[in-house]
Amino acid sequence: MAALTALTKSLGYHCAKRSKISTLSQNFPSHNSRFQTLRTLILEPSLSESVKLNRLSDYDSGIVEVNLDRPEAKNAIGKDMLSGLRHAFEAVDRDSSARVVMISSSVPKVFCAGADLKERKKMTAAEVHSFVNYLRSTFSLIEELQIPTIAVIEGAALGGGLEMALSCDLRICGENALLGLPETGLAIIPGAGGTQRLPRLVGKSIAKDIIFTGRRMGGRDAMSMGLVNYCVPAGEAHSKALEIAREINQKGPIAIRMAKRAINEGIDREMISALDLEEECYEQTLNTKDRLEGLAAFAEKRKPIYTGE
Ligand code: COA
Repeated sequence: MAALTALTKSLGYHCAKRSKISTLSQNFPSHNSRFQTLRTLILEPSLSESVKLNRLSDYDSGIVEVNLDRPEAKNAIGKDMLSGLRHAFEAVDRDSSARVVMISSSVPKVFCAGADLKERKKMTAAEVHSFVNYLRSTFSLIEELQIPTIAVIEGAALGGGLEMALSCDLRICGENALLGLPETGLAIIPGAGGTQRLPRLVGKSIAKDIIFTGRRMGGRDAMSMGLVNYCVPAGEAHSKALEIAREINQKGPIAIRMAKRAINEGIDREMISALDLEEECYEQTLNTKDRLEGLAAFAEKRKPIYTGE
């Protein structure tokens, strides 16, 4: 636990300097998808075997995938996995070529089973406190990434697993999904943003129902209450997410970042201040090559090619 505490202190919550991640071309096992594509595995000093960072290439260059891979514990988040998640999202944050992130699981029938309850049983109260704070700040890091994030949910997204999905911009699930915040059944509360992000997403009343009862919901119910953006047939969440990621990836990158900032920061402001923020964000797109390219492409009846300049 001392290691975790040290890591918590040493890693600043919002990383700043962006640097190029070294890459090595290598095939990575892909999902069964009609959108199959060549992938590039980004090799970098990994803090965890359970979290893999993959950058798609060629037509899909700009799409990054953070893949959860801890089958023996259904992707439950313990110290090792948490370090891996932190490391992966800090790498994404530094990668100026990344335009959209998908968080997915390679473990069948599960997105993430939440906190590692076996590891938790051995922790002292102080260790739990430190762990949960670090988990919370890691999910805030995901939320505050400048580029869009998409959670790809097949199977269970419970506790911290759902909280991770809630920190994403979009959630796409298969009909077999099982979503819930069961913490009150363990005599605790959702502590990694769940009590705050869920009511902001689905409203106070529905959030209270979900958190007080700890009920597990299917994909269709989650869709009907606005918890997910799309619910697709089981097994198709990844292809749907890739389809959305591709749509985003074709847009002006600065515009996408500014749109995210305007929405995220504006939502909690008074309207006058929020519209000032919109103006500030719009200004960032004005003197860009991409804006001129968009107008030129329209006039020439062709697809624009954006470079993020
Ligand atoms: N922490 C630690 N281990 C976990 C885990 C968790 N959150 N969730 C599952 N596992 C382990 C199980 O203990 C089991 O280990 P074992 O083989 O040593 O017994 C293994 O993963 C497989 O789990 P199992 O329950 O047999 O799989 P399943 O497919 O029937 O069900 C889940 C999967 C995710 C629905 C179920 O495991 C579950 O409900 N987990 C608890 C989720 C939870 O309450 N999270 C909230 C934490 S606050």
